[in-house]
Amino acid sequence: MSSSAVHQNHEPPLPDENHVVGLPSATEIVERYERLEVEEHPFFVDLIARPVDMGALWLLMANLRAGISRDFVVWLALTIARVEDRRIGSLVAKQLHDELGSGDARRIHSLLLDKFVTALEPWQLEGRPGQWLHAGERLLEEAGAPFHAEHPYEGVGALITGEIFANKMDRCLGDQVRRQSQLSDEALTWLTIHETLEAHHADDSGALALLVPTAGPALAATWRGAEAQWACLWNFLDRLQRARLEQLSVGKSS
Ligand SMILES: [Fe+2]
Repeated sequence: MSSSAVHQNHEPPLPDENHVVGLPSATEIVERYERLEVEEHPFFVDLIARPVDMGALWLLMANLRAGISRDFVVWLALTIARVEDRRIGSLVAKQLHDELGSGDARRIHSLLLDKFVTALEPWQLEGRPGQWLHAGERLLEEAGAPFHAEHPYEGVGALITGEIFANKMDRCLGDQVRRQSQLSDEALTWLTIHETLEAHHADDSGALALLVPTAGPALAATWRGAEAQWACLWNFLDRLQRARLEQLSVGKSS
């Protein structure tokens, strides 16, 4: 299913500055996006249908690292700083604390992600350095945009759908990783931590949504950020799938 097909099936009207009256509340964002399934993306449909593919797991994780490792804590910190409602800051700060290892530098998530990607390196796709990291580079650019938008609630919307997506994607990833036995438990710490944490953070999305004003520009901005972030993450998987098909066709012809 293409991203446009998914959006045609499920898409709420995209709010803009001029369309701030009569929008559904932010809790509706959670309801709508919880109904979408990341495992229905062709990238995961293919992974599920084929024998376990370590090269595809490297592709996914190396790109995820390129897309989120550097700036995710910055996006969280910006939201805390920019949104005046401290109840929202309190929820986001919990996530920032988790990301930074809860006070234990050895458990900073970006370092754990480095370990995971390093363990997958024996299966990295052949090519020039950076050749397969286009999806991650675009993710870094696009996923950061709502946090720098004029209205700070775009960041709140982005966090709401970002966590719902991450929780669903981590489950797909976990299912694939459990089909293999070549990665050590230590290498998988990032995944095991996130399988628990993302479920909590996805619950926090519900709590965040309840704190968003039920009308006006903040609500419209939340919808914009939420829509944009889900589309950005879905497009990330589209790009991974294109890279994977390209790699498979190169493999066949060589
Ligand atoms: Fe994390």
